[in-house]
Amino acid sequence: MRTLKKIIFPAAGMGSRFLPATKASPKEMLTIVDKPLIQYGVEEALAAGMDEIIMITGRGKRAIEDHFDISAELEANLVKAGKRELYQEVSRVARMAEVIYVRQKEALGLGHAVLCAQHWVTDEPFGVSLADELIIDKKPAMLQLREVFQATGCSVIGLMQVPENQLSRYGIVDYITEEKGLLRLTNMVEKPAPEDAPSHLAMVGRYIFTPALMTLLKDVKPGRGGEIQLTDAITTLAKQEPVYGVLLDGQRFDAGTPEGFLQANAILGLQHKVYGDTLRQTLKAYL
Ligand code: G1P
Repeated sequence: MRTLKKIIFPAAGMGSRFLPATKASPKEMLTIVDKPLIQYGVEEALAAGMDEIIMITGRGKRAIEDHFDISAELEANLVKAGKRELYQEVSRVARMAEVIYVRQKEALGLGHAVLCAQHWVTDEPFGVSLADELIIDKKPAMLQLREVFQATGCSVIGLMQVPENQLSRYGIVDYITEEKGLLRLTNMVEKPAPEDAPSHLAMVGRYIFTPALMTLLKDVKPGRGGEIQLTDAITTLAKQEPVYGVLLDGQRFDAGTPEGFLQANAILGLQHKVYGDTLRQTLKAYL
């Protein structure tokens, strides 16, 4: 199997759970403390050695391209103004990765978004990361997945426990436990009613796939909500070859919703080494 270098960021969604904030700006550019969600995702991927980035975008998503591009004028102005640290940060972000942008012309679902990258992925294993799922841990979530991928050579999916009343928001997995505590996934149900959910373990937007997944995606018919579902392709894959689940460590925020976004800003703000103390003092007056 070829080395795992590629990672797809589906970022063409309409962000309808966060309107009107996402009417004219991409949800991936929502800021958590001091940087946009998509930057957290890209930094996590780079920390896991996945530095060939394929961003799936659509209309109204140009801000993402600008964020990872060099702004010569801004950089020159920061240097001229003696703002050395800001210059270094802006310049670092613009040069941190090679990014390929692919347009998803119609919103046909997450599976379709991933399929849009097929030309660039060819016969290599690849990651998929959903940037609105923010996962913070000492060991980046993608690296946690990568270790299991390296050990097994199989597709690996990041999982976390979710409460009963949130089961219908996620893809929920069924599994058997193999030796060494590995969870082998046997089935997945996309956004089930609580009574149909096979477990409380949700797929939380971090995936590593063997190339077989891309082949299967081509044949997936519209499923739940009339969309081409990534979950349906994974279900078929799991019948053909082992697909493992990894219970991810870390703080997780569903930051593409107002609730998760606020929690992420509050908690990561409080933990921030520069802003944390002031924020704590300010908030005390309101609690
Ligand atoms: C997608 C996937 C779902 C997964 C979720 C994680 O759903 O289809 O299986 O659990 O992301 O956030 P979406 O949030 O795009 O509706």
